[in-house]
Amino acid sequence: MIKVDNLTKRFGRHSAVSGATFEAAKGEVVGFLGPNGAGKTTTIRILTGFLPATSGTATVDGLDVSEHSLETRQRIGYLPESVPLYRDMRIREYLRFRGHIKGLRGNTLRRRMDEVIERCGLGDVRRKMIKTLSKGFRQRVGLADALIHDPPLLILDEPTNGLDPNQIRSIRHLIKELGESHTILLSTHILSEVEMICDKIVIIDGGMVLASDTPSNLVSKMRSAGRISIELKADPLIAHEKMSSLDQVKKVTHERDRGSWGEFSILVESGTDTRERLANLAREEGWPLRSLHRYAATLEDVFVELTRKD
Ligand SMILES: Nc1ncnc2c1ncn2[C@@H]1O[C@H](COP(=O)(O)OP(=O)(O)OP(=O)(O)O)[C@@H](O)[C@H]1O
Ligand SMILES: [Mg+2]
Repeated sequence: MIKVDNLTKRFGRHSAVSGATFEAAKGEVVGFLGPNGAGKTTTIRILTGFLPATSGTATVDGLDVSEHSLETRQRIGYLPESVPLYRDMRIREYLRFRGHIKGLRGNTLRRRMDEVIERCGLGDVRRKMIKTLSKGFRQRVGLADALIHDPPLLILDEPTNGLDPNQIRSIRHLIKELGESHTILLSTHILSEVEMICDKIVIIDGGMVLASDTPSNLVSKMRSAGRISIELKADPLIAHEKMSSLDQVKKVTHERDRGSWGEFSILVESGTDTRERLANLAREEGWPLRSLHRYAATLEDVFVELTRKD
């Protein structure tokens, strides 16, 4: 549905996007994840025809967005980072106006207005002025606008930004529902959001795509795949040294002491479970052991590992 190939956008000498390549297949909900300034909005503005690329290509449904601007825009419902709503319009009035711009008329327009008002949970407030709505409801109006021409693809730029936790929950719920019948590209820097909603994740930073895979593949492919926590009674220095010398152990940290028990945190390489060898080591050394727990790597670990600057 979306194919971005070696896409580059330069502003003067600064490259906002540098050779980004990724795809979103039909029906997929793809999280577009990256820290501030990563190039998410720039990529989205190119996809939605608001900005020309410096080089590379972006296609929607097989059509190049720069050559077939009209046709590709018809297929896209776009929720921008900050929605330019007309504050003095009522919701119905605004949606009629937006639908009209997008070429809808008469009965079709009225039917689509009713459908998106229903779909986005705007029924009770449909006659209200936009300026009197809470931020969460304004975001729903933005979504209704994105949906009015019934596009198969939704591109949502940080749809939950600035909302309170309850509003975030309900917008996420709505996006999840929309994902059952639409292809969605969802830009965010909130990890839990993509974990909850997305089939696939594209991680971008510094204008470059650093990873593109399912959440579980990203986690299992990560280099430092996990952390083990162990509590034992031993001389901390000796325990530290012996555990550090085990294969596949990347780093041992002495976290704290609880009475005579010492707690260590151990970073291990991917695809290994070092617990058994740690237990054997403790037995061989005669160290009493009272807990041994593995924490699987999270998407947050993946994100930090890929995008940290140190
Ligand atoms: N019109 C512009 N002119 C000059 N530089 C720009 C322009 N738009 C974006 N940039 C720069 O390009 C880089 C990428 O910006 P972009 O808005 O795409 O990031 P983003 O991933 O959407 O970030 P955020 O999470 O903060 O929304 C930033 O360094 C930004 O300052
Ligand atoms: Mg942005």
